[in-house]
Amino acid sequence: MTNYVASDKKIFTQDVQAYAFLMQEGDDLCALYPQIEKDFFPHFNKLLKEKKFTGAKGQTLVIPCSVKNSIAYLICVGIGKTADKNGLEIFRNACATVIRTCQAQKIASVACAMPAFTAYPVSVEKMGEIFSSVCEMAHYKFDLFITKEEDKTFYLSTVLAIVDKKNLKKFEEGIEQGIIVSQAVNRARVWIDLPANKMTPPEFAKRTLALGKEYGLPVTVFEEKEIEKMGMGGLKAVGMGSQHDSHLVIMRYNCKKKNAPTIALVGKGITFDSGGLNIKPTGFMETMKEDMSGAAAVMNALTVIAQLKPDVNVVAVAALAENMVSGSANHPGDIITFYNGKTAVVGNTDAEGRLVLADALAYADKEFKPAVIIDVATLTGACSHAIGPFFTGLLTQDDNLSEKIQAAAITSGDAVWRLPLIDEYKVMVKSDLADLCNDGKTKYYAGATNGACFLSNFVGDTSWAHLDIAPSAFDVPDKLYYRPNSATGVGIRLLIDFVMAFKA
Ligand code: BES
Ligand code: ZN
Ligand code: ZN
Repeated sequence: MTNYVASDKKIFTQDVQAYAFLMQEGDDLCALYPQIEKDFFPHFNKLLKEKKFTGAKGQTLVIPCSVKNSIAYLICVGIGKTADKNGLEIFRNACATVIRTCQAQKIASVACAMPAFTAYPVSVEKMGEIFSSVCEMAHYKFDLFITKEEDKTFYLSTVLAIVDKKNLKKFEEGIEQGIIVSQAVNRARVWIDLPANKMTPPEFAKRTLALGKEYGLPVTVFEEKEIEKMGMGGLKAVGMGSQHDSHLVIMRYNCKKKNAPTIALVGKGITFDSGGLNIKPTGFMETMKEDMSGAAAVMNALTVIAQLKPDVNVVAVAALAENMVSGSANHPGDIITFYNGKTAVVGNTDAEGRLVLADALAYADKEFKPAVIIDVATLTGACSHAIGPFFTGLLTQDDNLSEKIQAAAITSGDAVWRLPLIDEYKVMVKSDLADLCNDGKTKYYAGATNGACFLSNFVGDTSWAHLDIAPSAFDVPDKLYYRPNSATGVGIRLLIDFVMAFKA
């Protein structure tokens, strides 16, 4: 494990292998740190000019130096102008660049000079949280099945932030919080990156039970027989073609305050989505182990929330099934009945997420009478086509809830983009044969909205938002604290910030 610390001592008094500078456009590093040219690199300013390094966002310069019989590295990362609207995200990526650079060079310790915090729209504590969480997320690589030691992930031993004396205590508190957050994010990423032969619905349940034990949180697991008995026809139908039973897993955090409201977090947990009999073609199925990203997000977010102890009850519900092809798989055209008594035609077995979520949402709403429900789901490819990989689709009819989620998106770094959800669209999930159909009427296009319309039938009048993380859950390019071809853990930081800012 990497040790994250902060210090108010001068950067070059630190005993580390590398010195990193998050440099604003126009900063004069040599004036700020005369020791650079004196002890490290005599023509540093000239070098910056020659390399056209101005501190513009995204610029990186790594300079090996010979200092007193040993090698030290200077790492300069441009952060542009901190007042940039996107400043926080640039800061996150710059921190990640420092970590990735050190990993690539096998540099085990780094001291990193922080920019002035005043330009950022969050507290010093939050900056500390962002720093340690992003650095830890940047380390992540799924390496459980790499057997050669030298090919495994390189973890730095020490990452040290240099901050002003007046900010030190708050920043250190933030660092502690960031460690908790990123451990949950990276744990979720492992769950998601585990392939479908390793991560099955029972395995997910087992791991949630272990988390419950670790954090002292009650966990309930409903297995297939109970799911059937409770009338959860969606969850049952989707898992019918699989050798693994479907599960509904619930973990709870109960706060100390009497009569506190409850927030329900519901996650889609398809451990593999082959499409079912409406099978996915080559190129669309390979990464479908990611289809339980929502379930992994809600459970792992809850472990952090439980440690931060807000005055609100939170329940996380995961709807787990494997969507497979076999003689016992559900057929296109089947009609099923859900937990709340509504019925639907399975027009397309590949629109399975909304079938399992329907039961989980209806259950969460009835059982916990929450003030707010948020579901997190890799629900539609259409959402990715609409907004690309850097956002999660946000669909809700509650403007107030939308504002709160958008505020949490800015502080957390899990960006959202609101997509339309109005009553006029809801006719697209109506059917002549049952109450609903799961594939919608194609002439309306708007596939992400279509999915949300279906789900809206299972939340009653409760304030509800749907987060479509199909774009952002896996293989997001160019975000340096994520990793391409891998799980991002998106949604966890968002849910934590939303819950911690929640006021009934
Ligand atoms: N799991 C997929 C959606 C998805 C696609 C997630 C790409 C992540 C990346 C979902 O179950 C699905 O297949 N949705 C269909 C719905 C359609 C059949 C109505 C889709 O998006 O095509
Ligand atoms: Zn599907
Ligand atoms: Zn799916």
